[in-house]
Amino acid sequence: MCNSKQYVNLPFILNSMIKATNIHKYYTDLHVLNGVNLNIQQGEIVSIVGASGAGKTTLLHILGTLDRASSKDQSALLINDVDIMALSDKNLAKFRNEHIGFIFQFHQLLPEFTALENVCLPAFIKKTPKDKAEKRAKELLDFLGLSHRHHHKPGELSGGEQQRVAVARALINNPELIFADEPSGNLDSESAENLHNLFFKLRDQFGQTFVIVTHNEELADMADRKLVMVDGKIV
Ligand SMILES: Nc1ncnc2c1ncn2[C@@H]1O[C@H](COP(=O)(O)OP(=O)(O)O)[C@@H](O)[C@H]1O
Ligand SMILES: [Mg+2]
Repeated sequence: MCNSKQYVNLPFILNSMIKATNIHKYYTDLHVLNGVNLNIQQGEIVSIVGASGAGKTTLLHILGTLDRASSKDQSALLINDVDIMALSDKNLAKFRNEHIGFIFQFHQLLPEFTALENVCLPAFIKKTPKDKAEKRAKELLDFLGLSHRHHHKPGELSGGEQQRVAVARALINNPELIFADEPSGNLDSESAENLHNLFFKLRDQFGQTFVIVTHNEELADMADRKLVMVDGKIV
């Protein structure tokens, strides 16, 4: 495998991908995020670990623009130099569709659709023509070792295969930034290792930035940087 540490030291990728300042989140009285500050460079793979309930998923959803931070003085979230907090819901959805990919613990594939159709969905939302979306989806599925599974539905795939379909779906619009929440939490150890190696292969080939919440110590330690969350803060 490529030397990831060496890769992130290349000067051309030292742009800031995420700059989060004083991020808070309240659920009514519950103060779940308590002033998170975070800088992530383009091309970095950053892992986030911490006890259950520490706020990891909440943070990932806010960084990933699926949820909004509670407003506080001096709070700011810049992704690729875009002021995320200033975007309308409509522009936020467009930004997310074009720039961000998600991989969840439970793949969240639609059971009635084939692997190919599931992968194409974000491209269709982006209004990519069908033939172009399908060509790209097939390339990705082939790249991920699923060339013989294009027309299988999720229920006809193994856990590792389902998760690779979810990775292809996350990649279809060529996002610069990928968020993964316990991506291997539901996989056997061999599939988990393959998935983890895949993240590094993708970063080395395409330069994507990864933010990965995980309980898997090996994956957490493989990352360029491991962040620890305790009680809604990065310590
Ligand atoms: N939608 C919600 N409404 C109320 N409380 C929530 C909601 N989502 C998460 N929480 C609470 O916020 C805290 C942090 O949750 P979460 O971010 O999921 O933690 P982690 O991913 O680290 O396990 C937990 O106490 C959880 O119960
Ligand atoms: Mg969580």
